[in-house]
Amino acid sequence: TGYITHDPGFVNTGAASSAITYIDGDAGILRYRGYPIEQLAEKSTFIEVSYLLIYGELPTQAQLEEFTGKIQRHTLLHEDLKAFFSGFPRDAHPMPVLSSAVSALSTFYQDSLNPFDEANVELSTIRLLAKVPTLAAYAYKKSVGQPLLYPDNSLGLVENFLRMTFGFPAEPYEVDPDVAKALDLLFILHADHEQNCSTSTVRLVGSSEANLFASISAGINALFGPLHGGANSAVLDMLEGIQAEGGDVANFVTRVKNKEKGVRLMGFGHRVYKNYDPRAKIIKNTADEILSKLKGGDQLLDIAKKLEETALSDDYFIERKLYPNVDFYTGLIYRALGFPTKYFTVLFALGRLPGWIAHWREMIQDPATKIGRPRQIYTGYASRDYAPISER
Ligand code: CMC
Repeated sequence: TGYITHDPGFVNTGAASSAITYIDGDAGILRYRGYPIEQLAEKSTFIEVSYLLIYGELPTQAQLEEFTGKIQRHTLLHEDLKAFFSGFPRDAHPMPVLSSAVSALSTFYQDSLNPFDEANVELSTIRLLAKVPTLAAYAYKKSVGQPLLYPDNSLGLVENFLRMTFGFPAEPYEVDPDVAKALDLLFILHADHEQNCSTSTVRLVGSSEANLFASISAGINALFGPLHGGANSAVLDMLEGIQAEGGDVANFVTRVKNKEKGVRLMGFGHRVYKNYDPRAKIIKNTADEILSKLKGGDQLLDIAKKLEETALSDDYFIERKLYPNVDFYTGLIYRALGFPTKYFTVLFALGRLPGWIAHWREMIQDPATKIGRPRQIYTGYASRDYAPISER
């Protein structure tokens, strides 16, 4: 223990061995369990990708049906858990509402506390996949003061979530297949991203042998920040700010380059990608299509494209290898789907959930796992004597 590596932000620390997700940041490659993200985006579904991440293989038809059926059986919340939603202020941000509700799952399912009880870990996995969309929809309903809907288990996971979010109890709700498909695709693209801040948080909390619910709740809180999942909301605020000031993209980019306090090009840059984020590439390709179908945010899309073009031809961004990341175009799509800006990061959490679960399970099963406990470089006083208060 004589020699400590100083690595703020863990830029060069391999904290885990993992077989889940592969990223080559220089080449812009992302693969889940070996499958290229482009193929999964085109051909797979979110529920199938969730299975792949958690269990390591794409499901057979029978496995997929069993998995879907299990999730459908657990979408209801305990009525007492629903009562939590009436306790939050109406204008509460939905991310802390969601993390609080997920944390509360440990109190409703006290059988979940032993992380080495494999049958129970399996049950907690299904409970999370089933109930987090319900919790997320209720966080939305709470924010707009509308009644909560029970899940409709004849619907698929994404369709059910959309109905609980935008439907009303006494009215039929027709799920728009284009909306469901767009959201399913975005969930696939967010489903895992190896040791990012929230996933590392899930693993670190879990390494103390805290249960799955406590660890995922911590991950949701880590995702909340604007440098991580909160960036998708921050991008939209930024685009609207530029629009409100007359759409002067060049002026905004100058302010970013001058490093004005609090002014960053949100949705740009990444710790690992020093090339175009492959997820952003897919999203950009679909943004045009989805936005023209749903008719929303065209002017903001124009600003976003102009911003990207300006940044990608500017030395500041070229030298630092700053490219659009996953969050650059997602906000525009979420907005067109009808979600308020404050809610975007909840959608990121829904997508990332299977990745967090897969990592927690991999961590808990790995014999090499030790409690996460970094060291420090101490910079304080060496030693000094206590002075009575009258002498300070
Ligand atoms: N706008 C302007 N300058 C930037 C940006 C940006 N978005 N990102 C990085 N830089 C500059 C930074 O100022 C630094 O410059 P210098 O060398 O002169 O000090 C250099 O590029 C390296 O940046 P860094 O902050 O050391 O890089 P990092 O790996 O610690 O941070 C990041 C990565 C994603 C936090 C950062 O790029 C950022 O703040 N981006 C904006 C927020 C964002 O879009 N976050 C979403 C990330 S992707 C999905 C997710 O995780 O949610």
